[in-house]
Amino acid sequence: MATKVVSGSASIPLGRALARELQADFIEVAFERHPGGFPDGEHYVRLLGSVSKEHVILVQPTWPDAKIIELFLLADAIHDSDADRITAVVPYFGYGRQDRRFLDGEPISAKTLAKHLAVDCDEILTMTIHNPEVLKTFPIPAREVSGMPSLGRYLKTAKVDFLLAPDDNAIRFVREVGDIASTPWDSLEKERIDSYTVRMTPKKLAVKGRSVAIVDDVISTGGTIASAAKELRSQGAHRVIAACVHGLFIDSAETNLKALDDVIATDTIQSPHTKASVAPEFAAAIRALG
Ligand code: R5P
Repeated sequence: MATKVVSGSASIPLGRALARELQADFIEVAFERHPGGFPDGEHYVRLLGSVSKEHVILVQPTWPDAKIIELFLLADAIHDSDADRITAVVPYFGYGRQDRRFLDGEPISAKTLAKHLAVDCDEILTMTIHNPEVLKTFPIPAREVSGMPSLGRYLKTAKVDFLLAPDDNAIRFVREVGDIASTPWDSLEKERIDSYTVRMTPKKLAVKGRSVAIVDDVISTGGTIASAAKELRSQGAHRVIAACVHGLFIDSAETNLKALDDVIATDTIQSPHTKASVAPEFAAAIRALG
């Protein structure tokens, strides 16, 4: 059984990089309807190579929502094309934060997605998910891969001499990056006022005259990063950059990010800020599969 890589339209650069790492074939997919196709605005996918009897690595995040449809269509097409095994590589697992029923009548949305992936896929690999515990509730084996080594490699060469976790949640991330980049770190405490506003608890940081990278799992609106950057500048940091695994960059993010000298995101979600690849991390996880 050989390995083949198939990517949804959100993950083509990552899928190609992963295929190179694994020395596997990259199977092209047509996403444009053929001339006789239906004009209803629905998604279309067609595998342009054989996956029969192969172990297929299917790469696609579940964000934004439209990409979920493509992911399910591709998984079904690969299954129907007689693949032996399908590993879903979901580099960013959207709905990961709805990991329990906060109010009666809600779905546990992370589990909802996993149940549908389990229809055609044999296992799931995802990256730096909000709560890795939720993976234990999935109906097929699911593993979290860390995206922090990719940021660590990048920051090691980015002339950074201090790292900052913007909140308690990010301490596990900054610790891992700090070990790889051999860089000291500290953390702030964040209070979330609403979806768009956060407040940092003042704290003395050893950043005067230093070049600092704020490390987080996700940048969404950029509110967290902007508040942390303001605190760093007020304490005399001379250069402030931000590094995240998943760059969503929604709503006012680009305005908020003007507070930074540079922004680095990985290719779990492709954006103009994508500067580091997590292909080596996923390749190692795939090689380690039983
Ligand atoms: C929250 O715990 C996460 O680690 C991020 O800090 C958060 O999702 C970032 O959101 P935003 O960019 O909207 O402040």
